[in-house]
Amino acid sequence: MSGNHAEMKRVLVIGACGQIGTELVLELRRRNGNNSVVAADVKDHCPEALSNGPYRCMDVLDREAVRAFIQNDSFDEVYLLAALLSATAEKNPDLAWRLNMEGLFTILNLAKEGHIGKIFWPSSIAVFGPSTPKTNTPQQTIMEPTTVYGISKQAGERWCEYYFQKYGVDVRSIRYPGLISYTSLPGGGTTDYAVDIFYHAKRENRYTCFLKADTRLPMMYMSDAIRATLELMSAPSDSISVRSSYNLSGCDFTPAELVAAIQKNQPDFEATYAPDFRQSIADTWPGSIDDSVARSDWGWQEAYGVEKMVKVMLENINVQLLT
Ligand code: NAD
Ligand code: SER
Repeated sequence: MSGNHAEMKRVLVIGACGQIGTELVLELRRRNGNNSVVAADVKDHCPEALSNGPYRCMDVLDREAVRAFIQNDSFDEVYLLAALLSATAEKNPDLAWRLNMEGLFTILNLAKEGHIGKIFWPSSIAVFGPSTPKTNTPQQTIMEPTTVYGISKQAGERWCEYYFQKYGVDVRSIRYPGLISYTSLPGGGTTDYAVDIFYHAKRENRYTCFLKADTRLPMMYMSDAIRATLELMSAPSDSISVRSSYNLSGCDFTPAELVAAIQKNQPDFEATYAPDFRQSIADTWPGSIDDSVARSDWGWQEAYGVEKMVKVMLENINVQLLT
């Protein structure tokens, strides 16, 4: 830890126990000091990975409890990550809409009232739909999402821009592609196959993929996503021209291409394909993303391509997490 309390930024991460939150909290604590970053999640107990700093059990749908906590403490930055992801949301549309929207309103309103300095709220490639151009999808284009998750993310983007324009709320956002990591398991998305495959490669040397072999999707290694998030959050306000959400690109590949990349390291690895309901979600999403606006506004540059990501994943995956 460095600095004293008065100088430290106060940061709150809601949805901290998830795939992104776990790594984001650890990096924020590394940069700001362990005690200045509160990890909050609906889970009763703090996971071992986040035990190096404060933990708060918080249901973001309990608006009064969230308001009381934030009003009492005031935070310089709030990262709102709690959401149902695409596949889980299709199974529970009502909860997905409530969770993905109500938490956002609570946090936007607290910022409007002056209790939060800056908000990060993640959007997704799911804001795009079947009528969107699939290749090099531009920042501004046709957006007609056909999933519950995509509809909630698109509505959230509109509200973020609205609160910025109408009330000056400093809210920043990225349309994350599918994120690939080994520290914690993914939470019910369509891109999860690109994480699952590494656990099965390590444990059984074979994998049955729930998407077709030729389904191209935009993806990103987690450390790139965390760095992008923190770069966007520290960019000068006047360099941010997009207050809905930024397109962001790391790499893109199909399951067959990922299998081939794994086989370069593990030649006996085998994959088969048994597409399920997630195929029809993936079919509506872009295959690659044009992120030139993020590059020119705040200097975004990815560090991981497919080969480098595959190597790090195979070296670090811990199959114990599956049990
Ligand atoms: P995740 O499912 O792994 O984690 C979500 C966390 O939110 C979980 O720890 C869960 O316990 C918590 N949570 C659920 N309900 C809650 C509630 N009522 N109150 C407080 N916490 C609650 O999700 P993730 O992959 O870490 O995604 C985080 C955010 O990033 C989401 O908004 C998601 O839509 C977005 N995103 C993720 C990806 C990806 O590939 N992981 C891609 C695009 C966008
Ligand atoms: N990875 C996410 C999902 O598949 C995209 O937002 O749901």
